[in-house]
Amino acid sequence: MSRTIMIVDDEKMITTTLSTMFKLMLKENVIAYNDVEQALACEELENNRVDLIISDFMMPKMNGLEFLKNVREKCPDTVSILLTGYADKENAIKSINEVGLYYYLEKPWNNNDLIKVVKNGLEKKDLEDGLKVKYKELEVSNREVSRLYELLKHDYNKETENTKNLIITLANVIEAKDKYTDGHTRRVGIISRKIGERLGLDEEKLNYLEIAGMIHDIGKVGVPESILNKPDKLTNEEYEIIKKHSEIGETIIKPLGSLKECLIPLKHHHEKLNGSGYPDGLKGENITIETRILGVADIFDALYSDRPYRQKLSLSSVKDILAKDVSRGCLDEEVVNSLFEMIDSGDIQKIFE
Ligand SMILES: [Fe+2]
Repeated sequence: MSRTIMIVDDEKMITTTLSTMFKLMLKENVIAYNDVEQALACEELENNRVDLIISDFMMPKMNGLEFLKNVREKCPDTVSILLTGYADKENAIKSINEVGLYYYLEKPWNNNDLIKVVKNGLEKKDLEDGLKVKYKELEVSNREVSRLYELLKHDYNKETENTKNLIITLANVIEAKDKYTDGHTRRVGIISRKIGERLGLDEEKLNYLEIAGMIHDIGKVGVPESILNKPDKLTNEEYEIIKKHSEIGETIIKPLGSLKECLIPLKHHHEKLNGSGYPDGLKGENITIETRILGVADIFDALYSDRPYRQKLSLSSVKDILAKDVSRGCLDEEVVNSLFEMIDSGDIQKIFE
C-alpha cells in the first residue's frame, strides 16, 4: 500500500518538482500545498492519513515550524522534515524537540539526500505503525489474559468454597453415623493444628492437617452402625471390621484432588511408631509428622470424651496413658510433649468449652 507524502512550500515550482520526483522515484501518493492554512485544513490531515510532511521554513502566514507544530497536535505520528535556509538553521535545531522534527535539510538540498531522508522517514513511520498494531494486539491479549485470570480466580474461589462445604458435609456425615463422636472430628482438627503450630509446621500443612483431622474417620461410613455404636466391648471380628475404616476413608477421599494432601494422615492415623498399628504396620520415619500429630490428637480426644463403654477420663489419667504409649514406643514423644504443654497451659480445655 502506498504511503502519503505532503509537500508544503509557498513556491509552486518547488512543490511541482518535488511532487514529480517523489511520484517517480518513490511511487508514493503525493499531495502538495502552496498555502499553509489550506494544507492544515486538508482532508488528509483531518483524517490522519499523511505519513510524511516536507515543509518549507519561510512561508507567508505561518513559518514551517509553527505549521509543523500545528500538524503535530492533529497527527502526532506524522514524520516531519523541514527545508530551511542557512540563516534559519539555528531556529530549526532549537525547535526539533518542540515539533518532533525528524530531519531538517538546508537549502539548496541534494535530491539524493532528500530521497534518502524521505525513504528513511517512511520506514520509521512503517515501523512505528507496525509497533502500534503490535501494542494494540498485546493490549487485547493482556485484556484477555486478565479476563481469564479473573475467571480462574472466580473458579478457584468457588472451588475453595465448594471444598470447604464438602469438608463440613463429610464431617457431618461421620458425626451423624457415629453418635458418640459428637464434635470429635472438629476437635481433632483443631487440636492437630495447634500441636502442628507448636512444632513449627507451615500454614499450608496446618490447613491440610486440620482438614485431615475433620475427615480422618470418614471411612466409618463403611462400618455398620451396630458395631460403631455398640455399648459393650467389641469382639475381635468386630474390631477387625472397625479397623477397615482408615482404608475405606482413603478410597472415599482419593478422587477429590483438592484433598490429596490429607490422604496420608487420613489413611495412617492409627499407625504406631513401633509398627504395631494399622493398616500397614508402618514404623518410625515412615510415619509423617502430620500423621503422628493426627494420631495423638485422635487418641487424646477419644480418651477425654465420653464413649459408648465408658465416661471421659480425667486429664491426668489421659496424660498417664499417653506417657505410657510414648514409653512403649507407640507415640511420638515430641508430639505428646506439645500436647502436654497445651494441657498444662489450659489451652486444650478451651477447645472443649
Ligand atoms: Fe480413626
